[in-house]
Amino acid sequence: MTSDHASDLTSETLEARARRHLWLHFTRMSSYQGNDVPVIVRGSGQYVFDTRGKRYLDGLSGLFVSQIGHGRAEVAEAGARQATELAYFPLWSYAHPRAIELAERLAVLAPGDLNRVFFTTSGSEAVESAWKMAKQYFRAIGQPGRFKVLSREIAYHGTSMGALAVTGLPDIKTPFEPLPPGGVRVPNTNFYRAPGFVADDVTAFGRWAADEIERAILREGPDSVAAVYLEPVQNSGGCFPPPPGYFARVREICDRYGVLLVSDEVICAFGRLGYYFGSQRYGYQPDVITFAKGITSGYAPLGGMIVKDRLMEPFDTGPATFLHGITFAGHPVSAAVALANLDVFEKEDLLGNVRANEAAFRATLEKLTDLPIVGDVRGDGYFYGIEMVKEKATRETFSDEESERLLRGFLSHALYDAGLICRADDRGDPVIQLAPPLTCTQEHFDEMEQILRSVLTEAWKLI
Ligand SMILES: Cc1ncc(COP(=O)(O)O)c(C=O)c1O
Repeated sequence: MTSDHASDLTSETLEARARRHLWLHFTRMSSYQGNDVPVIVRGSGQYVFDTRGKRYLDGLSGLFVSQIGHGRAEVAEAGARQATELAYFPLWSYAHPRAIELAERLAVLAPGDLNRVFFTTSGSEAVESAWKMAKQYFRAIGQPGRFKVLSREIAYHGTSMGALAVTGLPDIKTPFEPLPPGGVRVPNTNFYRAPGFVADDVTAFGRWAADEIERAILREGPDSVAAVYLEPVQNSGGCFPPPPGYFARVREICDRYGVLLVSDEVICAFGRLGYYFGSQRYGYQPDVITFAKGITSGYAPLGGMIVKDRLMEPFDTGPATFLHGITFAGHPVSAAVALANLDVFEKEDLLGNVRANEAAFRATLEKLTDLPIVGDVRGDGYFYGIEMVKEKATRETFSDEESERLLRGFLSHALYDAGLICRADDRGDPVIQLAPPLTCTQEHFDEMEQILRSVLTEAWKLI
């Protein structure tokens, strides 16, 4: 048997076994009844490889995770060393060195007086932890009525019940209702789809969108609102950067009504926007930052929240205890991996790489606007959304049936077959999302552009 045969057999077996036993997340499993489940077996730098050895450019960093790229032995070895020294100990009543070092390092990197780190294992847990912390904090300072959280339409903040109540995507919430009460929606900052009265002026649009937060607080009753959750750049819907002045205005509004500003940076931290934290890029001071994903570049799971000193005060005296904990939160192996990951950021000046190359990335993607299907290219840093439209001049979007045919029927498979990992998504209007490793340079931007150009040209013929 040749080695080619051997690998073919192995791949068939893996794919068949995946179909039989593995339940993929947010995946229509029936779509794999007649098709192979894509099985990725290995990664190196900006690329991953399937069972047959075929190479794919990882244009989504897995799932907005692999900031330093794949196959970094020094980061993997840091995890292995830690597992040998102390594989596990909880952060319930005890501390361990790597969690201490990482908390201190994050406090130094985070803006202003965000100095206290509560670890989790994931982004959903981070989002949910911040909500629980806010509720218990407000009770402790004599404002027990504050329990509601505002977040933006179409924004994704996670899937556990609490995080889902913060999420603004009706379709993924409905099957799980009733959800914890208190989630309230405000407009997002999709300028491409701005209401007519502010459609020509991005600053006025930003002012309106921020002021809608104030109107929602007043409508709900200021004494009932605990927090506003905002991503620096909203992912879901296809990368909505903040309009000029938006976050300054939101900060003013939060201060006026004593509402906490939670910057959900599960995607936007750790270099995605060229800074350690997205809030630093746009110059605003959050009360809480939630993070996950890029903190370890995926070499182990970790999430958490960084909280300003004042919010910790009620928990720092007498019998007060934050009544919340997670067995694997701040896992020693994950913390060691995160420290090694941040070492790579420093050694290779990855933030500098993003800042130096982001204009070239944008310019390369903007070439695609000559295609009739490309309506908008938007984003910042190494984080872009490409919105597809049926009619460019009118910005007409696709019907549900057309979108289904375009995205699930063609684009998702075609982009993968052409060797690009990215995401074709229609949770808002149909978009393709890109968030490549922070090590990418012009050659990778060109590869993404070329694949997208040929696949989107084919897609247009199907409409
Ligand atoms: C902004 C934001 N918050 C929270 C989450 C949830 O993170 P996790 O999937 O790690 O629970 C995500 C995941 O993509 C996210 O993008």
